[in-house]
This record gives sequence, C-alpha cells and structure tokens, in this order.
Amino acid sequence: MLSKYENYEIVNLDNLTYCANLANLYEVSQHPNYKFIKGDITDKNILADIIQDVDAVMNFAAETHVDNSILTPEIFVKTNVLGTQCLLDMVRKYEIKKYIQISTDEVYGELGAQGCFEETTPINPSSPYSATKASGDILALSYFKTYKLPIIVTRCSNNYGPNQFVEKLIPFFISKLLKNEKIPLYGDGKNVRDWIYVYDHCSALDLVLHKGRVGEIYNIGANCEKSNVEIAQILLKALGKDDSYIEYVKDRPGHDRRYAISNKKIKAELGWRPQKSFEEGIKQTIDWYINNTSRIKEVLK
Ligand SMILES: NC(=O)c1ccc[n+]([C@@H]2O[C@H](COP(=O)([O-])OP(=O)(O)OC[C@H]3O[C@@H](n4cnc5c(N)ncnc54)[C@H](O)[C@@H]3O)[C@@H](O)[C@H]2O)c1
Repeated sequence: MLSKYENYEIVNLDNLTYCANLANLYEVSQHPNYKFIKGDITDKNILADIIQDVDAVMNFAAETHVDNSILTPEIFVKTNVLGTQCLLDMVRKYEIKKYIQISTDEVYGELGAQGCFEETTPINPSSPYSATKASGDILALSYFKTYKLPIIVTRCSNNYGPNQFVEKLIPFFISKLLKNEKIPLYGDGKNVRDWIYVYDHCSALDLVLHKGRVGEIYNIGANCEKSNVEIAQILLKALGKDDSYIEYVKDRPGHDRRYAISNKKIKAELGWRPQKSFEEGIKQTIDWYINNTSRIKEVLK
C-alpha cells in the first residue's frame, strides 16, 4: 500500500502475540507514512484514539491456528469475535468510510469431492477457529444491515509465501526438513486445500478496499487445489529428500477433507487476477526460508 499509494498513511495496530514478528515489517517501519502501535483490538480506548483519525479499517488481527483453537478456544472467541465487535463499534462511532473484515474459506466447512465454495454457500464451520471467524463475518454483515455501515467481508483460501509464521503447514514442513526431521502428515495426507501466494491475496484486498461494493462478500482464491501429501512431496523434492521423511500421524479432530473456492465474483466485478503460479511461488518461498533460517530459529532449535 505504501509503495503504491504515496499519500497514504498506515497505522498498524497489533498486540504482538506469539506468532507476530516485527522483523517482518523492518523495511516498512522505516517509511515516514507508517506507524506501529502495540495494542489489542479488544481495547476500546486504544481503538478510539486510532480510529477517529482514519478513513478505513482493515481487520487482519486474529488468532489463526486451527490446532491451537482446539486446545484453547477462549482466546479465539475473545480476539476473533469480541475484537471484531469492538472494531465495528468504533467504525460506527467515528463514521469510518470503509471496513474490511479479512476472513477465510474455512468458514464454509467441508466440501465434498466436487464443486467449490461460492459466496452464497452457507457457512458451516468445523473448528473453533473457523467458528469464530464465521461469527466475526456475520457480526460484521449484521452491522451493514442494522447500522448501514460500509462493511465488506473477504474470504481467502490458504496463504503461503515469505514471512509466514512457522506453525503453518508450508513453513512448518520446510523448517522441519531444513532441520533434517520428518514431517508429520495428518491422517492419510489426502486433505485438500486451495493455495494462494500471499501477495495475490494482498492485491485482491487492495481492489476490494478501493472498488468493492459494501455489504458484499468476496471469495479470494487462485484455483490451486493440492492435497497435503502433494505439498509434502513438492517440498521433499525441492529440498533433496525422499518419502521416508513423511510420518503419518493421527488425524486432527474435525479436519475438513477438502476446500476449493470460486474466484468468479472478484474476477468479474473487480478484474482481479492472481499473478503467481504455484511453481514459482513455492520456489521463492522455499528460497526465502533457506536464506532466512535465523528468522525461523524458534522452531529450528
Ligand atoms: N494465513 C492464511 O492462510 C489465511 C487465509 C485466509 C484468511 N486469513 C486471515 O488473515 C488474517 C491474518 O492471518 P495470518 O495468517 O497473517 O495470521 P497470523 O496468526 O500469522 O497473524 C495474526 C496477527 O494478528 C495479531 N493479533 C492477534 N490477536 C490480536 C489482538 N487481540 N489484537 C491485535 N492484534 C492481534 C498477531 O499479533 C499477529 O500479528 C487473519 O484474520 C486470518 O483469519 C489467513
């Protein structure tokens, strides 16, 4: 945003949970139009100070790791539901011109072997994570209907790319393999996810912010379905390992079998196109982790 829109000023509010890393933002932090504030989205005093001076709010803040949500759902409710409500109340109070709720395809729940999620697909979340994200979405949409707030909800598929915290599948597997350890695959490894390079997600959000219609949901996905075992094999090959590095482990409870998302609406309405092929994106991602092992040292120890 800062490189594309010279006159924009960005305020980044983040309470720096276990997965946050300010090093990800080192370059941005030098920019004169960027300000970082450490704070919680459930803290209405901090929100009031910031939000009364902004034009738009984009809510990325969330607890995001499904495995953690199974162990400790409460913090997911606090941040993903209560935090969203706190933000919405401030957007209402200060009559902010645009609010984007960044959400996930996981709210739709499990898909059969065929078809894909449309924006009209009923939500049917399976994990506490996806249930709290779905709650944030419908709360946001209710503020559009009830208070006529300028709300838009986006639902994206699985992101990958540089700087991702190592608990997520692709960096987790890469970090394990760099450490010469086996990679754990849930169940039979055939759960399918739809993958998107993180900068393609960002370019979609840029378009939604500037051209999206309020009250709408936009699905974001790059038509790139891969099973977990396929991802594992791509990484094994790239890092010079064989299948003996795969360790099948007990499946996660409530593990959805397949996600696939239609991007027809955002393509037709906003002219969005993903730019990065999976082959190119995964190569750049692997190279990034190889060149930044110090950044992932917390799991490499
Ligand atoms: N990663 C994906 O594949 C993916 C896919 C679709 C949607 N999303 C959504 O995109 C958003 C960002 O995802 P991510 O993968 O970067 O997540 P992440 O877990 O890596 O980062 C979340 C960030 O939110 C901050 N945060 C958490 N609780 C907070 C609170 N109470 N107040 C302020 N800040 C808080 C954390 O410190 C962290 O910097 C989330 O809303 C997520 O649901 C992610």
